[in-house]
Amino acid sequence: MSKYAYINNKYVNFYNAKIHIEDRGLQFGDSVYEVIAFKKNVLIDLNFHFIRLKFSLKELKINFKINRIKLTKIFKKLIKDNLIEEGIIYLQITRGVQERNHIYRENIKPTLISYVMKKKLNLQIKNLKGVKAITCKDMRWDRRDIKTVNLLPNIIAANLANKKNAYEAILIKNDIITEGTSSNIWIVKKNILITHPSNTDILKGVTRTRIMKLIKENNLKLRERNFTRKELLNAEEVFLTSSSSFITPIIKIDLKKINNGKVGRISLKLAELYSGLFVNE
Ligand code: PDD
Repeated sequence: MSKYAYINNKYVNFYNAKIHIEDRGLQFGDSVYEVIAFKKNVLIDLNFHFIRLKFSLKELKINFKINRIKLTKIFKKLIKDNLIEEGIIYLQITRGVQERNHIYRENIKPTLISYVMKKKLNLQIKNLKGVKAITCKDMRWDRRDIKTVNLLPNIIAANLANKKNAYEAILIKNDIITEGTSSNIWIVKKNILITHPSNTDILKGVTRTRIMKLIKENNLKLRERNFTRKELLNAEEVFLTSSSSFITPIIKIDLKKINNGKVGRISLKLAELYSGLFVNE
């Protein structure tokens, strides 16, 4: 359990870490966030997270200048002081506090919240297991490329999956697979890796970007294109990617087994390449 959190320039006791009742993050979800995995002082793909954070802030016109050095120091201190070896860093920036009004003031000062959570990260290939997923309707807004905390549709779908003992809910918009509630979705068809294009319909995942680099560097075949639920269910392999689940094979979707319920060859290869970047024991 965490002992310390960081709020607006102060390290505070985790249980006394509080924000104002008129914080716009609380009242309107007027807020962006990042989740960064870490293992023994390695903050995984931190620069990609900073790039996306900058994009989210810019799109919502939240007046927060990212100081990468300062933020990195905060993260490292939180990891050290909380005595956590591996887990995730949570960073949230809200537009700030003002009297409740849909219209925000230009000069409002953003709220910064950060803390770390212990989490066993599955970076070891020998532990790679396939999971179940369900499909359901994507009920989100039109700017899914911005990493906002407006996650109610994701939460409803994730809880539906959980009730059915599934690990993730795969979202469908007009018969096109967009992504998971907190992950990007990939299929393999005739040895080609296929994932949704990075437009406003999905979050451009940091892990997705990293996997795309790995695919290119290793001369595997990649297509960014739309695919349907039918293609998903008939794919040779399916996996998801995210900062907390890395590459996780999906071996059953709704009632359909994928790859006879086994982890596929290409998923395994990619997971190996990915873990090779961060695991050196
Ligand atoms: N979720 N799509 C959505 C909707 C997400 O929320 C996430 C991340 C991803 C994968 O992005 P990345 O590879 O950058 O983690 C895709 C984080 C982990 C979360 O909300 O906890």
